[in-house]
Amino acid sequence: MAAMWSLIISLLFLLLPIAPSSSIKFLLEGNVYPVGHFYATLNIGEPAKPYFLDVDTGSNLTWLECDHPVNGCKGCHPRPPHPYYKPAADKLKVQCGGPLCAAVRRDVPGIPECSRKDPHRCHYEIKYVTGKSEGDLATDIISVIGKDKKNIAFGCGYNQEEPADAPPSSVDGILGLGRGKAGFAAQLKGLKMITENVIGHCLSSKGKGVLYVGDFNPPSRGVTWVPMRESLFYYSPGLAELFIDKQPIRGNPTFEAVFDSGTTYTFVPAQIYNELVSKVKGRALPLCWKGKRPFRSVNDVKNQFKALSLKITHASGTSNLDIPPQNYLVVEEDGKTCLAIRDASSDPVMKELNFILIGAVTMQDLFVIYNNESKQLGWVRAQCDKAQELESVIDSRL
Ligand SMILES: *[C@@H]1O[C@H](CO)[C@@H](O)[C@H](O)[C@H]1NC(C)=O
Ligand SMILES: *[C@@H]1O[C@H](CO)[C@@H](O)[C@H](O)[C@H]1NC(C)=O
Repeated sequence: MAAMWSLIISLLFLLLPIAPSSSIKFLLEGNVYPVGHFYATLNIGEPAKPYFLDVDTGSNLTWLECDHPVNGCKGCHPRPPHPYYKPAADKLKVQCGGPLCAAVRRDVPGIPECSRKDPHRCHYEIKYVTGKSEGDLATDIISVIGKDKKNIAFGCGYNQEEPADAPPSSVDGILGLGRGKAGFAAQLKGLKMITENVIGHCLSSKGKGVLYVGDFNPPSRGVTWVPMRESLFYYSPGLAELFIDKQPIRGNPTFEAVFDSGTTYTFVPAQIYNELVSKVKGRALPLCWKGKRPFRSVNDVKNQFKALSLKITHASGTSNLDIPPQNYLVVEEDGKTCLAIRDASSDPVMKELNFILIGAVTMQDLFVIYNNESKQLGWVRAQCDKAQELESVIDSRL
C-alpha cells in the first residue's frame, strides 16, 4: 500500500511543472498618468518591511528615501507611501575601498573620492533628469517571495532633491535596473535561482504590469531582437530616425535611442520635436489641448493622430519600433489630451544628452527584454494587462 501511495505521489509530482526556479516575477502597480511611475514592492530588512520602488532601467543604483542615523533626511518626501527606511548604523558600514563600493563608484558617474576619515562609509551622489539623491550605501536583507533571502546593497538617500513641480510621490525609492555591477539584476544574480542577468517588463496602458528578473522565458513569437550597444550609459538598441506617418523628419537626423523605464515621458531633441508638433496632426499643437467635450481616454482621440515609428540602425541591419498615438498621448483627469513626447531642450539635463529617450509611455503594452548575457534588446506588442495572471504566456518557472 505504501509503495502504491508513493507511486501516486511521484506521479502527481510529475504533473507539476517542476523546473529549476530561475526568475523572479514582480507584480507592478502604477501607471503613466496620473501616478507617473510603475513600481514594484520590495521587502527589505529584518523584520521585512515593504517599499515601493520605481522600476528604472535608466539607472544603476537602487536607493530608498532614508532616515539616516546621523543625518536624518533632508528633502525627503513629506508623505511617502511607507515610513522611511531607517537603518541601524551597522547597515551603513560599507568599506569605501571594498568591491561593493568600487562597483557603485564605477557605475554611478561623478562620485567623490573615498575620504580617509571615513573608510567605512561609501558615499554616493546620483543626478537624474529631474532631481538628485545623495546618501550612503547600505547593505540589508531583501526577501523575495518567501523563496530566498539575500543581502543587497542600495543607497540610503538622506539628501534628496526633487523638482519643485513634482507630483505627490507614490514611491519610496528607485529600483536601479541598469547594466552596471551595482544594478539590481547583477546583485540578484547571486541568489541561487537567478543564473542569468535578463530583465523583462510589460507595462500596461491600463496601469499595472510585470517585471521579470532572471532567466524567464520571453514571448516565443514576434520579438524584434537587436544587438545591445555596449558603449553607452543606457540600454540602447542603436541609432534611431523618427518617421511621422512613414515620412522622415527634414534632414533625416539620427540620434542614439535609449530605453528608460524610469522616465515617464519620451524625450526627443528639439530638431525632431519642432517638426513633430507641427506634423503629427497637420497643424501646430500646444502641449495640451481640450476637445469640444472632455476626452475620456486615448481611444477617443487616437484616430485623429498619425502613427510614429523609429527606424533603428544596428550592427545587424535595421528594425522598427512602432509608436501608435496611444504610445505618445495621455488624457489627463480633466479631459485634456497632452503630448507625452517632450522637447529635450526644455530640460537642463536632457538637453546635454542628445538622445531619443524612450520613456515608459512609449513602452506601454510592449514586452521589452534587456538581455545582458546575450547582449540583446527585444520588444514585442503584448497585452500587458493580462500579464499579471497569465503564467503561460511568459513562464516564470517560480
Ligand atoms: C551603469 O554602469 C555601467 C557599467 O559600469 C556604465 O557603463 C554606465 O555608464 C552606467 N550607467 C549610468 C546611467 O550611470
Ligand atoms: C552586463 O555585461 C557587462 C559586460 O559583460 C558586465 O560588465 C556587467 O556587469 C553586466 N551587467 C550586469 C547587470 O550583470
